[in-house]
Formats: sequence, C-alpha cells, structure tokens
Amino acid sequence: MKAYDIAPGVAAALEAFTVPQTLGFGLVNAPVMYSAEWANGSWGRGELLPYGPIALWPGARALHYAELVFEGLKAYRIGRPGPNLFRPLENCKRLAASAERLSMPTVPEGMFLEALDAVAGTLNRFVPGKSGHALYLRPFLFGTESGYMIRNSTTFRFMVIANPVEAYSAGAMRVAIERRDVRAPLGGVGFSKAAANYAASLRATSAAVARGYTVALWLDASEHRFIQELSGMNLFAVINGELHTPVLDGAILAGITRDSLITLARHLGYTVHERRIAIDELIVQLASGVCTELFACGTAAIVSPIGVLADVGGADHVPLRIGVVVAELREALLSIQERRAPDPFGWVREVPLPG
Ligand code: COI
Repeated sequence: MKAYDIAPGVAAALEAFTVPQTLGFGLVNAPVMYSAEWANGSWGRGELLPYGPIALWPGARALHYAELVFEGLKAYRIGRPGPNLFRPLENCKRLAASAERLSMPTVPEGMFLEALDAVAGTLNRFVPGKSGHALYLRPFLFGTESGYMIRNSTTFRFMVIANPVEAYSAGAMRVAIERRDVRAPLGGVGFSKAAANYAASLRATSAAVARGYTVALWLDASEHRFIQELSGMNLFAVINGELHTPVLDGAILAGITRDSLITLARHLGYTVHERRIAIDELIVQLASGVCTELFACGTAAIVSPIGVLADVGGADHVPLRIGVVVAELREALLSIQERRAPDPFGWVREVPLPG
C-alpha cells in the first residue's frame, strides 16, 4: 500500500494533458499535485490530486501575514526512461530552515521525498526530454488558519505543484543595480525562501523590467554598498580568472546551485572566494577589464551570463564580455544534473517510477 492516497480524478487528469510546444517558466501547469495537512500537532496522510484550485479561508494567515515558505527544484529526464532529481535533501533542509525562521512546523524528509517522487514519478511522461528543459517542482508550506492575531497558524498545508519548463531566462541577462529599495536586512528572512522576500523585491523588479532589464541587483540593507543577490539567483564575478561570490551573511539566499557551483569550480581547478563584494569596486573592475565576466545561477536560471550591468537611470551601462567560464560551469553542472556526465559528488537521485 502506498503511503499516500491517490484521488479518483488523477488518471483522467493525466489522460487529458498534453505538453504544449512553448513552455515558458511556470506557465504550463502539470496535471497533478501533492497535498498534506498539518493539524493537532502532526502531519496527516498525503494525497495526490488533479491540479486545480484549492479551498482556503479568506482569513488564512498565509494570505495576510505571508506565513508561506517554498522551494524550487527540477526533475530531469534526458535520454532515460525515468526522471532524476538533483540534491533534493538540500531543498528539504532549506525548507526546514525557512519554516523554522517563521516558526512553522517542518516537513519530514520522508514526506518531502514522497511528495517529490509521487509528483515527478506520476508525471514521468511529461518531463521534457530536451537539454536545459525540465519539470520544475515547487514545494510550498503555508499557514491555513484564519485569524488576525500576529502569531503562527495552528494548521498548515504542504503542497508540491509542477511545471514543464524552459530555463528561466534566455540569453544574456540585463541587470539593473537597485539603489533605493532593499530586499532583506541582516537578522531578517533573507537567507530563507520565505514568500516575503519575493514581495519585497517586486517594486524594483517591475521597475527594472519596465526599463528593459531582466532583474534588479540587490545591495546590502545597511550601507547599500555590498552586492547581495538577484531575487531567485545568486551572482558570481570572474576577477583575474578567479571566481568571487557574495558570502552568505544571513541576508542572501543560500542557493543550492550556488553551493554546487562552488564545489564544481574548485573541482575544475578554479579558486573561489566567498566575500563581501562592494558594487563600486566591481564597477571599476569591469571598466578596467579586471573583471571579465558576471553570471547568475539558480535552479530556475541554471547558470546564465550577465551581459549588462546598469546603474540608476540606465545611463551607466557596463558592457561585459560573455565569457567562457560561464559556459564551462553551466555545462559542468547541467551535464551532471541531466546525467550526461559522471556524478562524482553523489548529487543525483533517481525517482522511482510508480508501480
Ligand atoms: C528557483 O530557482 O527555484 C527559484 O526559486 C527562483 C524562482 C523564484 C523563479
């Protein structure tokens, strides 16, 4: 007997679904989802359901006080009969760290993996087979109790939804330095995947997009001097042939792709520095050619070159070379994720197909 239930509509939902030609990122909803509820201090049995709207009290804490944390990871199926995940236990640990920061209950490892396996395994035939494409899995956990007292909900829901996707951004990214808004201060929730971080990023991101840029680059909240991240992506600079990335200070998301790239780059012989990087120093190094490349990384983005770094007003474009280091690291990472290359670090986890 399965550890989770399968709702009656699942088979029909799978039957009715076809993957469209154009995927985008998060635009195509896969036909099934996983859901489990937490009440009276423990998790109930999980259920696989057809993808669709959920019932939620309009007063639910998640809607009013952002009592919501999430994760993002991909299932890959390149030239194989079944899908695989990449370091899913790191996502489980990070979801727990995010939940603990908001004093929410954590999702046990067994339930987290059960949910991923149920969704990715059931959707096997819809996992894109093209390199760079994948089935994006979005686990999330939120407070469902209704009420305005500013304290934790006593009921929660954990869900996993999925989307066949392309990479988050195509081509070289155009990054706008954000000098006014801040994403996260020290001591806040910046290290976690709390929905609130993404809410804080929306105004600057929308303004950047309206000005023709891809994303906003965040600076630290106290001095507005040091580079943080790109909301959904961490940043790397190639300086004198060595890699530099902002050190995890508690205000930056601890990206699993970031961590994997640091390990891989060192394995490939690069020196990697995790440190505070001042934006002014970086601009000077770009102008002088000491910094040859900038790139962003994340589960959604994989490893994406940055083609332009622009300052306020869009006037100070800093032209960059789209270099070779980014291409080397992207292929080194993606070929492990897609099981096209050996996995020396034991990062890949096969998804068992439902029997
Ligand atoms: C991911 O890479 O999984 C992310 O969470 C980025 C997302 C916000 C688009």
